[in-house]
Parts: sequence; structure tokens; C-alpha cells
Amino acid sequence: MSPERDLAGRLALVTGAARGIGAAVVEVLAERGARVIATDADATAVKALAARHGDQVVPRTLDVTDATAVEQAVAEAERTGGPLDIVVNVAGILRGAAVVDLDDADWAAVFAVNTNGVFHVSRAAARRMKERGRGSIVTVASNAAGVPRSGMAAYAASKAAAVMFTKCLGLEVAPYGVRCNTVSPGSTLTDMQRAMWERSPGGEHAGRRAVIDGDLASYRTGIPLGRIAEPTDVAHAVAFLVSDRARHITLHDLYVDGGATLRA
Ligand code: NAI
Repeated sequence: MSPERDLAGRLALVTGAARGIGAAVVEVLAERGARVIATDADATAVKALAARHGDQVVPRTLDVTDATAVEQAVAEAERTGGPLDIVVNVAGILRGAAVVDLDDADWAAVFAVNTNGVFHVSRAAARRMKERGRGSIVTVASNAAGVPRSGMAAYAASKAAAVMFTKCLGLEVAPYGVRCNTVSPGSTLTDMQRAMWERSPGGEHAGRRAVIDGDLASYRTGIPLGRIAEPTDVAHAVAFLVSDRARHITLHDLYVDGGATLRA
């Protein structure tokens, strides 16, 4: 089968699908032939996204922080669409602040989406995939999970938890033929990234430059490949991991960050 349509006949569920990396994941999975249930807490935006794809993409409103809603959404997806082959956790939020200024509500909100949300969705999917003896789950984490960053403690910790959770789940379900991997992007051109630049002192231009060049004052390396990722760069990595070409890959954390974390 040609690599372009290698996901034909598969059913995928993507969270955080309305924009940015999630929207790119929906697009790439659909291009490769999968039917996709595109879910997001933003009902209007996810409907607009699905409308651009025709029948192959079905929009559903889903807040991943709500365990009951997640269980119902996964059950409904399987009742109406058939067995889920692919689940991609993309929903995430960023609340940046130094720890001494971080309030309880921001800490809780970040973990509710980035960690608890991944738990709710992956648990609901894994229960069913395990029974069937097949399936693939990918969690989009962040390279901030592996490198300390000022002003990002809650976010980085929530993503590190999501990575280790996904690996432990992968270990539990590997004997049943279910694979679990993470994709850890670096700076990627989305609304989340632009919002960080808006907060930086020199605005978007200076923020973008500092990301690429690095910023010694905040102990940040730059991006060796000299560019900010496009959402599709991350989506192609996700599509590889969920495909049969990655059939012997599980518990893996695939960095898509242009070399920014200088990992050995
Ligand atoms: P974005 O902010 O552009 O889009 C995130 C989407 O998640 C939005 O559509 C939003 O409505 C949805 N969402 C938020 N809370 C939700 C909830 N409780 N339930 C369901 N949906 C919810 O973000 P972006 O940049 O596309 O990021 C996607 C993922 O990639 C996130 O997990 C983020 O942490 C991660 N990431 C992004 C990087 C970047 O530079 N943009 C770098 C590293 C990781």
C-alpha cells in the first residue's frame, strides 16, 4: 500500500483538534486515509475544522478534564464509528509564571488538561484496545518535559508526568499488541507560541528571534536547524508512530524540535 494512504480503514480520535498541532494531526491522518473524530473543548472551532474535510472528519465537543465526558465520547465514537485504532492526545494549555508567582488555580488548570486529560483519554482507549489486541496511542508532550525552563514549571512538570504516564501505560498494554508513544515538539508556530511571543518584551519579532538564536539570559539553547516548526512537522511524526511502519516502536519519546534540546 502506498505510504500516502496507509491509514485507510483506520478510525482515529484526536483531542485538541480545533487548531494548531491538533488540526495538523487531523489533516495528515485524513490525508493518509484515516477517518477522524476531531474533538476539542472549543465547539465552534472544531466544527469549522471538520467542515473543511467533508465526511472523513467528524467534529465532537470534548473537554478532556471531564473523565465522565471522555468515557462517554469514546464509547459513542466506537458505537457509531467502530473500533478506535488510533488515539492522539494533543489538547494542552500553557500558563507561564515563575513558581513564586504561580497561583493554585493555574497549577491545577495546567495539570487538569495536560496530565489528567491524557490519563482520562488514554485509559478509556486502552481499556478497549487491550481487549481487541491492537491499537496505538500517541501523546503530544513537549521538549520542556526534559529541560528545565524558567517560568514554565507547571507546564514542564505536567508534560513530564504525561510522558512517564504514557510510557508506563505502554508497558502495561504491550503484551496485548497496543503501542504507546510520545511526540515532544519544540517551539511550533501556533496560537500557543504566538501568545508567548506577545508577552515577550520585544513582541513577536524579538520573541521569534530569541527562540531561534537562543537566549543565554534565560539559559535557553536556540534551534540548530534555524527554524520554528510548522504544525505539520509534528503531525508527520505522529502519523509515522501510529502507522504500521512503526509496528515495533513503543514507549518511545520522539523529539521534533530541530535539535533544540541537544539530546545525546
Ligand atoms: P493551541 O493552543 O494552538 O491549541 C490547543 C487546542 O487544545 C485548542 O484548540 C484548545 O481549544 C484545546 N484545548 C485546550 N484545553 C482543552 C480541554 N480541556 N479539552 C479539550 N481541548 C482543549 O496549542 P498548540 O500549540 O497547537 O499545542 C498542541 C499541543 O502541543 C499542546 O499539548 C502543547 O502543550 C503541545 N506543544 C506545543 C508547542 C508549541 O510551541 N506550540 C511546543 C511543545 C508542545
